[in-house]
Amino acid sequence: MMPDQWIAIATENELAPGQMKRVEAGGRRLLLCNADGRLYVVDEMCSHEDYSLYLGCIQDGRIKCSLHGSYFDLETGQPTAEPADAPIRTYSIKIVAGEVLVQVP
Ligand code: FES
Repeated sequence: MMPDQWIAIATENELAPGQMKRVEAGGRRLLLCNADGRLYVVDEMCSHEDYSLYLGCIQDGRIKCSLHGSYFDLETGQPTAEPADAPIRTYSIKIVAGEVLVQVP
């Protein structure tokens, strides 16, 4: 099994609160999100249909899908509002020398 890898995806202060950035790391399409100054990385695509959460918005630590209005907790990836009933995947991050690194398999 390949070990997980840490990949640099942004600089620490690149995003303002409420902003997102689409990135590709380890062959995955991911979304870096700044929710009230905290950074999170989740899958870019909604778990309900194949639709980019980048087109949604960040509110109260959650990301909203703009297609049907599901919300996902950015910490856990769990849906907090229907119609989505499956979580999105979340990824660990760390900040090293001003760079944001994401852990991907
Ligand atoms: S595609 Fe996201 S809620 Fe339906």
